[in-house]
Amino acid sequence: MARRYIYLIALAILAPYVYDRYVIFSGLWANRPSKFQNLNSFKNHEVKFRDRLRNCEDVLLEEGMGIAFLSCNPGRDQWNTVMGTFVPPSAERAGKESAHIWIYDYSTPNLADSEALRPLKLTDYDNAADFQPLGIEFDTATSTLYVINHSRDSGNTMEVFQVSVQDSVAKHLKTFKHPMLHTPNSIHSLGDGKLLVTNDHYIGSLISPFLSKVETFASIPGGSVVYTDIHNPSHTKTLARLPFANGIAMLNSTTVAVASSSKPGILIYAFNPDERSLRYKKYIRTPSAVDNLSVDSAGKLLMAGHPFGLALMKVSQARANCEMNGTEEQKKACECTSPSWVAEWSEEGGLKTLYKDDGEEFCSSTTLVRDVGRGVGFVSGLYERGLLAVKE
Ligand SMILES: *[C@@H]1O[C@H](CO)[C@@H](O)[C@H](O)[C@H]1NC(C)=O
Ligand SMILES: *[C@@H]1O[C@H](CO)[C@@H](O)[C@H](O)[C@H]1NC(C)=O
Ligand SMILES: *[C@@H]1O[C@H](CO)[C@@H](O)[C@H](O)[C@H]1NC(C)=O
Ligand SMILES: *[C@@H]1O[C@H](CO)[C@@H](O)[C@H](O)[C@H]1NC(C)=O
Repeated sequence: MARRYIYLIALAILAPYVYDRYVIFSGLWANRPSKFQNLNSFKNHEVKFRDRLRNCEDVLLEEGMGIAFLSCNPGRDQWNTVMGTFVPPSAERAGKESAHIWIYDYSTPNLADSEALRPLKLTDYDNAADFQPLGIEFDTATSTLYVINHSRDSGNTMEVFQVSVQDSVAKHLKTFKHPMLHTPNSIHSLGDGKLLVTNDHYIGSLISPFLSKVETFASIPGGSVVYTDIHNPSHTKTLARLPFANGIAMLNSTTVAVASSSKPGILIYAFNPDERSLRYKKYIRTPSAVDNLSVDSAGKLLMAGHPFGLALMKVSQARANCEMNGTEEQKKACECTSPSWVAEWSEEGGLKTLYKDDGEEFCSSTTLVRDVGRGVGFVSGLYERGLLAVKE
């Protein structure tokens, strides 16, 4: 009898978990390469800057100025602290293709491409040649750019820059480090140095690639959302825990959305600005692993992600040997075959898929941003060349 109770209790505890895993694996199955169906609901779309940009994880829109910031890191092939690729730096590769934050002026008509896309020059920054940017965030009021740097030597840091858009210069102000920001991924600015930051894992790949993968596959809630203040580091605290926390965005001043790449889906929280606390409200299931989130000026939640996580892992593993100018085998390792998925969500409209591609046209989508007024949007791709520009 007692044993039966134990079984029942164990089942009650595990049932939602088993169901979640079932949904994930059935999602993977439905999205398997042989069954994958492309979809496009944009009026117009094209891949821009194929020859100039590679491995852009982030795109961030500054609608007021009509510019986008892009964070692109070709070095991610050999160094990915989230996926767990660690090839030691080689003299051969050094300086060949370095990481950049770019400013893209998408709103000025008839601008030559070379004028429209400019790399930000980092000044007063010692290690500009060895920079591994991940999430970026811009605070318009103070022209402050926050960049997560996945450092090889000094652990993960947040770099704070003062940006002059006109001169394309980012002056380094400080490096911010905190033990509670151990696997930082995305940043949402609350203004004046106050930030919400996600940690993607409890056990980062740098500490143990194996345990980090177990954490991902078992969907253990080791990721977190942390509040921090770069002017008052002692105010830092953990607000929520969830599996593989990735993108973070605010729908309005009291609602925070966080992507979980392994659950998979989006968790909605009520944010209390006075107490700086989060209260879980609801979960939106998605047919793909959501990577990053943004919110457009009409209040829609925008997202992009990975329909078939195993394909992304395969690409990230192969990339360790990628040499764009290397042997046939090294060139093959630079291929990107991981599919893309782009969608939007609103309370009224629900979840709507906008674009799906098997990776042939645009692979490994991570972020969608949209300028509602100008009717344009952009999608970045973690291991892709160029940026997908869409018109609606
Ligand atoms: C996610 O998107 C936001 C909003 O565009 C951007 O600021 C951020 O850098 C992105 N983060 C990551 C890790 O891709
Ligand atoms: C940023 O990361 C790079 C690459 O790991 C590292 O060389 C550099 O020192 C880091 N910058 C800071 C300020 O920690
Ligand atoms: C904020 O957004 C949420 C989710 O869309 C909505 O339920 C809530 O009513 C909004 N709150 C305000 C104050 O607009
Ligand atoms: C590949 O070779 C071309 C032409 O020599 C050069 O411009 C480019 O920078 C090289 N790319 C890499 C990644 O080494």
